[in-house]
Amino acid sequence: MLELAHSPAPLVLVTYPLPSDWLDPLKEQVKAVVAPTAQGRFPEDLIRYLEAQGHNRSDVSGLLSMLTDRIDGTVLDHFPNLRVVSNMAVGVDNIDLAECSRRGIPVGHTPGVLTAATADMAMALLLAAARRLPESARDAIEGRWTTWRPADWLGRDLNGATLGILGMGKIGTAIARRASAFRMRIVYHNRSRNREAESALEASFLTLDDLLAASDFLVLAVSLNESTQGLIDSPALRRMKRSAMLINIARGPVVVTDDLVRALQEGWIAAAAIDVTDPEPLPAGHALYELPNCLVTPHIGSATAGTRRKMAELACLNLVAGAKGDPLPHCVNC
Ligand code: DGY
Repeated sequence: MLELAHSPAPLVLVTYPLPSDWLDPLKEQVKAVVAPTAQGRFPEDLIRYLEAQGHNRSDVSGLLSMLTDRIDGTVLDHFPNLRVVSNMAVGVDNIDLAECSRRGIPVGHTPGVLTAATADMAMALLLAAARRLPESARDAIEGRWTTWRPADWLGRDLNGATLGILGMGKIGTAIARRASAFRMRIVYHNRSRNREAESALEASFLTLDDLLAASDFLVLAVSLNESTQGLIDSPALRRMKRSAMLINIARGPVVVTDDLVRALQEGWIAAAAIDVTDPEPLPAGHALYELPNCLVTPHIGSATAGTRRKMAELACLNLVAGAKGDPLPHCVNC
């Protein structure tokens, strides 16, 4: 006991300068070194900073990472005594999970707390596309709103339209719940049937091909992995209705960007509203920004004050548990 009382608090690294009160759960639990700037290269600049603070990278027990940090074998080699990687995101496609598992490093993530905010964002994008909000607002801002025009800016009704959801997990189901309040018909495709959504929301399971063909609006809510990378490519886009609208709140690489550009330019589908892109960030001047039938937002699906704080809190709890050698509250590979 005496020895434990004197053992130093585990050293952890936070890769982004998060608001300090978001890190309250770390207090008195660990010694945290927080990246001083958002601009540094990871991990080189952070290691330099750590060492300038008088620490050694081999003493680092835990990493609190962002979805923008690529955590692979090369990064892990810098921290030979790492006991946990805690990602402040539900998605963990930025992390080489197999490599972490091989080294016995548990990976934490933040499921549940961002479900509602992300589902709200999907509906915001869906409504913005359906009712042509960005285009019509631009028209007004640029001085072309001269009178009320009965046949201009005609959008799409949600009532009675078919919403296809690719990925019927927590977020997909939360989107379905919202969409059914708009009286949309719900169809979905998922690795396995979601019987709860089928009975509670009258959602119908379809094959991927049938989902593409049936959807008036198609929302992507899958995680990014080998089977979903590039899933929405030219053949998939060509299978969709010409009047269909694509919403992506999942991960950019689920869609082949160049194929989406062609689909929108050539009218294979009517519109897209995407919160995630490939590459991310999408560079200024990219063709997708120029298209009037495409809305791009900068990966803000979970960006509400309450949600981001809860994500940080969960990430801290995973981090503390792992750094102390305890089971993680939310572990992806345990
Ligand atoms: C996540 O947590 O994976 C989301 O993309 C963040 O908004």
